[in-house]
Amino acid sequence: MIPHTALRTDLALDYLGVADEDRQQCQALIEGPVSPAAQLVQEYLSARLGSSDASVPELGTPEVPVTERDWLEAMVRFVPAILTWHAEKDIPDAVSRDTLADFGRNLAINRRVHGRFGMDTYKWLTNVFSGRIFQLGRLQYLIHQPTAAVPGVSDGEWILGVHIPEDGGLSQQSVSESLTAASKFFATHFPAQPVRIANCESWLLDPYLAAHIDEWSNISRFAALFTPYGTPRDEPTDAVYFTFRTRSMENLDQLPRTTALQKVVLDRIAAGGAWQLGFGYLVLPH
Ligand SMILES: CC(C)(COP(=O)(O)OP(=O)(O)OC[C@H]1O[C@@H](n2cnc3c(N)ncnc32)[C@H](O)[C@@H]1OP(=O)(O)O)[C@@H](O)C(=O)NCCC(=O)NCCS
Repeated sequence: MIPHTALRTDLALDYLGVADEDRQQCQALIEGPVSPAAQLVQEYLSARLGSSDASVPELGTPEVPVTERDWLEAMVRFVPAILTWHAEKDIPDAVSRDTLADFGRNLAINRRVHGRFGMDTYKWLTNVFSGRIFQLGRLQYLIHQPTAAVPGVSDGEWILGVHIPEDGGLSQQSVSESLTAASKFFATHFPAQPVRIANCESWLLDPYLAAHIDEWSNISRFAALFTPYGTPRDEPTDAVYFTFRTRSMENLDQLPRTTALQKVVLDRIAAGGAWQLGFGYLVLPH
């Protein structure tokens, strides 16, 4: 096994799935002097390892402001610590790699969205570096105790939040293999936090989408796995962001209308509608 405390920079960046164009800047973050703010963030991540506390506080003070760059520096430097924690839980190396690769994926998406090195989604990545989320095959699973009611889930019960990273198609087979893998993975590596139920909160579960896209599409079949609950909530920008990777709601008429999804997303907005976040749950396979 690799002694994690002595992990070379290039190996750490391999674990993080950092693409060539982002490697130099990541290398500079890891090899320069530790900034006091990044030190603060690393202490925050250490304290959260394995904890159920999902909150990401504003750590900065006027004397030590904490910026996006500080969070990135802290996360890159935190690779040995999170790998050691995974190893203590006997988590297979391949799962560690797939899970940490969300970092490189989000750097690449940031480049596409903003045209520069950075990560506007760094707060989401704290889930990776506090050992709360794992990628198992096609999907990611966040082990947590829900703060809002989920049908059939008792107070204090652990559940899995299902997340869908951008990583190619969402075939029925890849989803079903992933759900089976998740059941086994959490029973094996988190026996003290048994899980029965997975939930999903996503624009992919907006009931309007299921009604307006081919029922045999991957997206429709994925949504159909979940029993809807609660009332969908307006999140007008999510569908635009995940389909077109823009956060702007201006000049939507200039976006491409090549795929069925692009057309559905734009037509609804053009007709005055708003995209929503839908909620659903499923019982995990045994
Ligand atoms: C969810 C996702 C993996 C589904 O991809 P998929 O398996 O290819 O989807 P489907 O096969 O069901 O596609 C149905 C139609 O939508 C199109 N489509 C799917 N995702 C698309 C996307 N992100 N952008 C543009 N078009 C897309 C397909 O091309 C297809 O249209 P066509 O029949 O005209 O070719 C993909 O949309 C994606 O990567 N999204 C970003 C991540 C995300 O949304 N996560 C959830 C966050 S809450």
